[in-house]
Amino acid sequence: MEFKKRILCIGAGYVGGPTMAVIALKCPEYRIDVVDINKTRIDEWNSDNLPIFEPGLFEIVKEKRGKNLFFSTKIEENIKNADIIFVSVNTPTKSFGEGAGMASDLQYWEATAHQIVKHAKSDKIIVEKSTLPVRTAEAMERILKTQNSDIKFEVISNPEFLAEGTAVKDLLEADRVLIGSHKTKSGDKASQDIADIYRHWIPEEKIITTNLWSSELSKLIANAFLAQRISSINSISALCEKTDADISEIAHAIGSDSRIGNKFLQTSVGFGGSCFKKDILNLVYIAKSYGLYEVADYWEAVVSMNEYQKLRFVRKIVKEMFNTVAGKKITLFGFAFKANTGDTRESPAIDITKHLLDEKVKVTIHDPEALENAKSDLKGIDNNVIYEADPYKAAENANAILITTEWDQFKDLDYTKIYHSMKKPAFIFDGRNILGHKQLFEIGFNVYPTGKQQLTHFK
Ligand code: NAD
Ligand code: UGA
Repeated sequence: MEFKKRILCIGAGYVGGPTMAVIALKCPEYRIDVVDINKTRIDEWNSDNLPIFEPGLFEIVKEKRGKNLFFSTKIEENIKNADIIFVSVNTPTKSFGEGAGMASDLQYWEATAHQIVKHAKSDKIIVEKSTLPVRTAEAMERILKTQNSDIKFEVISNPEFLAEGTAVKDLLEADRVLIGSHKTKSGDKASQDIADIYRHWIPEEKIITTNLWSSELSKLIANAFLAQRISSINSISALCEKTDADISEIAHAIGSDSRIGNKFLQTSVGFGGSCFKKDILNLVYIAKSYGLYEVADYWEAVVSMNEYQKLRFVRKIVKEMFNTVAGKKITLFGFAFKANTGDTRESPAIDITKHLLDEKVKVTIHDPEALENAKSDLKGIDNNVIYEADPYKAAENANAILITTEWDQFKDLDYTKIYHSMKKPAFIFDGRNILGHKQLFEIGFNVYPTGKQQLTHFK
């Protein structure tokens, strides 16, 4: 079949894979190639066992793979043939040198820019899909102009807003698609070419076009605002535990104000995921680099509050279990950073486990999807850790259960059976407030929700 256009995506990760699968589904006249340097990942994309777990994704990949969706490691060949190149490589926090622990590590992204310039034989639109510091396109343009040739590259910013676990739905029913370009004739044309892709399924009024820098910065700010809401509600959860106010009632009361809105007000053991912390720290770094120290401090507090919430959870466990947890068995229900994903990047469960191990706790971890990732996160420090796929076995002889991920499965377990298999007094610390606390108390548990009154049998 002759394709109308060839789209290439460099980076077959959590963003590149699902995004391109949905584009392939909605744009049958385009050929979509997804490439990666990681051959194992590409082999998995070509198998029945995809490298990431996303509801609805496998069905789409199965339908389009080999028709207009192709996964390979043929980077050079595909750069040559593509009209549009999405760059969706990882941009983690820098772990070395200037800006370590704060700035974005742009080495993967820069490597792709050099690859593109080396292998391109015709004009191309380069789309920044990765989350990048504001004004990164400027640097990309400089690299793309290093080869003295007639080939023209137009750089576009098209950040991705999908959340893990709901990636397919978020892509199919996006709140908006953001496209940033230079306000020039060629910039406008490239912006329209990218908008044409999304017009296949996204209503026109949801396609927002801006200048390049607004688009790049909007992505960081969207994540910063979302994370800020979680830190705000988590900070108040601490106050609720001191005053017997109830965090769910507060979230409902304030969320009913349409100006505030009711989403992202679920208190937790802290936010995780590969992006919130990294993107806020990047924002902090950028603000500092422009001398805006008060702006930097303001946003850095969102991350500090998140660290506090994780530590506060562990301190509460130690305090309530009679200030001594050494040698006790504590079981984590949940290791993924949120439900419906196997991803554990920056999962609060990692820090919670590490704090517990420091306290010489015997930790058991149960998660429906994330046990393999948990093993690799705790590699080298997991002498006192057991990984258990069966929740009932995980709870046997435990002194306490911690709800660290909001998996639906945890709500439907037989807690009477679990209670009888545990050491007494049996504790539950619900870091996600997903369980029926009164029922658990009636079964016999001492129940410690987050931001709510504790229910205990101690006199
Ligand atoms: P990821 O680590 O899952 O995937 C990135 C992939 O890029 C990896 O498979 C890696 O091997 C590949 N890669 C790196 N350098 C390469 C090169 N030179 N050539 C070919 N492949 C290369 O990362 P991700 O979670 O998909 O995130 C990608 C970007 O999207 C990041 O900037 C992230 O901030 C942003 N983002 C992520 C999410 C999310 O939910 N994970 C959502 C929105 C935006
Ligand atoms: C987040 C954003 O929601 C996406 O829009 C963005 O594209 C993405 O980051 C990214 O740039 O990577 P994601 O991290 O996948 O998506 O998941 P979220 O649903 O945002 O949850 C993040 C963390 O916040 C999770 O640990 C979750 O449990 C926690 N959370 C979320 C709360 O503690 N309370 C809430 O009310 C909501």
